[in-house]
Amino acid sequence: MSLNTFGHLFRVTTWGESHGPALGATVDGCPPGVALDADALQYWLDRRKPGQNKYTTQRREPDAVEILSGVFEGQTTGTPIQLMIRNTDQRSKDYSEIAEKFRPGHADITYWQKYGIRDYRGGGRSSARETAARVAAGGVARAALAMLAPEVSITGYMVQIGPHRIDPNRFEWDQIERNPFWVPDAQAAEDWSAYLDGLRKSGDSVGAVVEVVARGVPAGLGAPIYGKLDTDLAAAMMSINAVKAVEIGEGMAAATLTGSANADEITMGPDGPIYSSNHAGGILGGISTGQDIVVRFAVKPTSSILTPRRTITRGGEETDIVTRGRHDPCVGIRAVPVAEAMMACVILDHWLLHRGQVGENRGQIG
Ligand SMILES: Cc1cc2nc3c(=O)[nH]c(=O)nc-3n(C[C@H](O)[C@H](O)[C@H](O)COP(=O)(O)O)c2cc1C
Repeated sequence: MSLNTFGHLFRVTTWGESHGPALGATVDGCPPGVALDADALQYWLDRRKPGQNKYTTQRREPDAVEILSGVFEGQTTGTPIQLMIRNTDQRSKDYSEIAEKFRPGHADITYWQKYGIRDYRGGGRSSARETAARVAAGGVARAALAMLAPEVSITGYMVQIGPHRIDPNRFEWDQIERNPFWVPDAQAAEDWSAYLDGLRKSGDSVGAVVEVVARGVPAGLGAPIYGKLDTDLAAAMMSINAVKAVEIGEGMAAATLTGSANADEITMGPDGPIYSSNHAGGILGGISTGQDIVVRFAVKPTSSILTPRRTITRGGEETDIVTRGRHDPCVGIRAVPVAEAMMACVILDHWLLHRGQVGENRGQIG
């Protein structure tokens, strides 16, 4: 596989497997002079790490990140930043059955068909453990944004779990950090606890919808046609394990609107254009408008469940499988910090591209 890298100027390559000695990310293209240390990255990793509450996998990993290169005396040097996270809670025996059987909903069968060899322990490279490396890289992107574009803030949260959606009228930003679901609706957090408890006891799992918003992004990031900001955001979110659909702004619902309802009207304010709404999700023609950038994605239900499922072995025999081991009843919860990290990497990448080609926006209004 040579396709382990994303980004144009801010380039992230992740490496490693779930049950290998370590995994990590190589971050190339980070500007020099960014204040960075392992503690700053650890803050973000701690939000993703497993075993934090009863709604996420009980696998216990400290996910301690080490910076091996690219930082000197607390600042990035402009050279490649090597980030490493050691795997410390590998229980390979939990996974011995999947050496022979393909778990439905997992990448076991496709990796085997394609490569004819796979590290079956915990899913190997296809395991979402890889997302720890992205969160570390996202921490680097956030540190760079804090220096270059301090007005940018990035927040992810859950808006739906199974059939249960939040009530937009109860949306409060400061609720997001106060419950195990990263949900901005306090009532929903209570309702979801009871719902997930029942689901966990029945040995089943459920999907979710996650939204991630970047506020304070200036107008002008992104490029027409092949360098669209929305293209890169969609690819970044779709690359997260278990993501099956990505929307920007109104997304699929735009198909149900009339043109008059969907067009975000523009008026002139004291400091520039003001939009009456944000159906576009902050992007027009692939270029940011200066409004909030709103991305939403659907996460499928956790495939590893205690309910027996039919499958086949490597030898082609039909059989059943129950996936024991430690799994999240809803992987959407832990996808939230991953989504924030991907947003941070893409926004920084496009900020650097914009600075490289254009610098200050050239088109004046008013
Ligand atoms: C943060 C995170 C944690 C995950 N944990 C699990 C898990 O515990 N059990 C599981 O079956 N799938 C889990 N997944 C999803 C699988 O990694 C994913 O469904 C599988 O690799 C197949 O890839 P695909 O769904 O993208 O096609 C997780 C996904 C994310 C984003």
